Amino acid sequence: MIKTTLHIDPAKTLSHIAPEIYGQFSEHLGRCIYDGVYVGEDSEIPNKNGMRKDVVDALRALKLPVLRWPGGCFADEYHWRDGIGPKEKRRRMVNTNWGGTVEDNSFGTHEFMELCDQLGCEPYIAVNLGSGTVQEAAEWIEYMTADGDSTIVKQRQANGRKGPWHLKYVGIGNENWGCGGSMSPDFYANEYKRYQCFCKNYGDNKLYKVACGPNAEDYNWTKELMSRIDHWHANAISLHYYTLPGDWEHKGSATDFDEQEYYTTISKAMYIENIIEKHLEIMDEHDPEHNIDLFVDEWGTWYDVEPGTNPGFLYQQNTMRDAIVAALSLNIFNKHSDRIAMANIAQVVNVLQAMLLTEGSKILKTPTYDVFRMYVPHQGAELVESHTDETTCVENGRTVKGPAVHYNDITIPALSESVSVTEQNGQKLLTITLANTSLCDTLSVELELPMQYSFAGEASIAMLDGEVHAYNTFEDPDHVRAYETEEEWNGNIQTLTLPVNSVCRVNCYVC
Ligand code: AHR
Repeated sequence: MIKTTLHIDPAKTLSHIAPEIYGQFSEHLGRCIYDGVYVGEDSEIPNKNGMRKDVVDALRALKLPVLRWPGGCFADEYHWRDGIGPKEKRRRMVNTNWGGTVEDNSFGTHEFMELCDQLGCEPYIAVNLGSGTVQEAAEWIEYMTADGDSTIVKQRQANGRKGPWHLKYVGIGNENWGCGGSMSPDFYANEYKRYQCFCKNYGDNKLYKVACGPNAEDYNWTKELMSRIDHWHANAISLHYYTLPGDWEHKGSATDFDEQEYYTTISKAMYIENIIEKHLEIMDEHDPEHNIDLFVDEWGTWYDVEPGTNPGFLYQQNTMRDAIVAALSLNIFNKHSDRIAMANIAQVVNVLQAMLLTEGSKILKTPTYDVFRMYVPHQGAELVESHTDETTCVENGRTVKGPAVHYNDITIPALSESVSVTEQNGQKLLTITLANTSLCDTLSVELELPMQYSFAGEASIAMLDGEVHAYNTFEDPDHVRAYETEEEWNGNIQTLTLPVNSVCRVNCYVC
């Protein structure tokens, strides 16, 4: 057993945790949109205006703050006019990025806005900079957000939507260093500035504009971009970081992995913190007043596709390993919530590290879904100071905080944590989220409040554990499921035992 103490200071609030950190991403890729969220009004699968009821219900429980669409790489070959008007007349296009399937555009702007409406979330639209035009981007914004009697507004009204939609988040291009046009940062920065200039605010709709930021460790992109834009042009830049146990040729299986691959995955997932910190350092040099936020608008695990499935569909299973990756990533985002204003896991249904998998009318919630559900109380709460005592060990130039797990040449922290507070009925409600990354040692965590504080009664404890390879199937959809218990907590110290390879969330009032 590994033992540690986690010091929590409920009075020392550090930053506001934007609910948008718990955002999702949906792309026209594989079975994310079609089959995943949208089945059409005539489907036998229960739906409301074409959206799967089971999927919408499951996602509503996650209090989805924001949903990014239509890509991904798809965004830079998407022409919004193809996806409006009578469905039978919509243009059929080849989805060249993802399996070469024919996209019939039956899910377009109106359908996406309907989905966001049903989910109760903000839309986050990625406009096409790579293969579109400034005029096309400008007119999409007008179509969605303008009122009056312009030709474009009348077209929207003729297509069934009278008033404008509210639209805050607009990303201009996606991965323009890669699938979005193979651009150099200076070329992209100039293009970005031109595009954003024509994305106007109509009426009282105010856009929040997001520039395409770096891939993983591409610090040069951040430097070049940040030296060319300021907050008049962009409200945020977006980082993409995926966790692959192997390399792009051999990523590794989602379900069949050994301990070495497990620890490699966890170590690579944790590395996002180093990357975030270095990009923030560069951003700070150019924007010391922190006017430009950082988004992580694509993140998550990426494995080889499930055997027998279309390689272009990126369909993968989701085990307890993914739950640990989700938990530690969200803890990292919480800890950097002073600068991270949004994060969007890739992707919401049937693609990469999904919340939900579907097969015909069947649905299952993945272990990652449970983590998002457990973390809901962090949304909109205030991050508070929390730390362990252990000496920091430095390996391969990396800092490891708290008690360490060593496996061959890998060292990772055994404990990942973050703590937030909300005021409820005049009392402080703590949300403590913890993950034990070790596969062989249980972790005993002493939660310690300053002397003047005390845990005040009933603590609600949600626990997600299970063998690291465990996952849910359509035959056994609840094989891995979080369970809740309640305990009476008093005094300023409480000990919590985390099983190997587990995620835990505690909610408790303090006084
Ligand atoms: O999420 C899958 C793909 O990963 C996205 O389309 C792209 O932006 C990234 O490379």
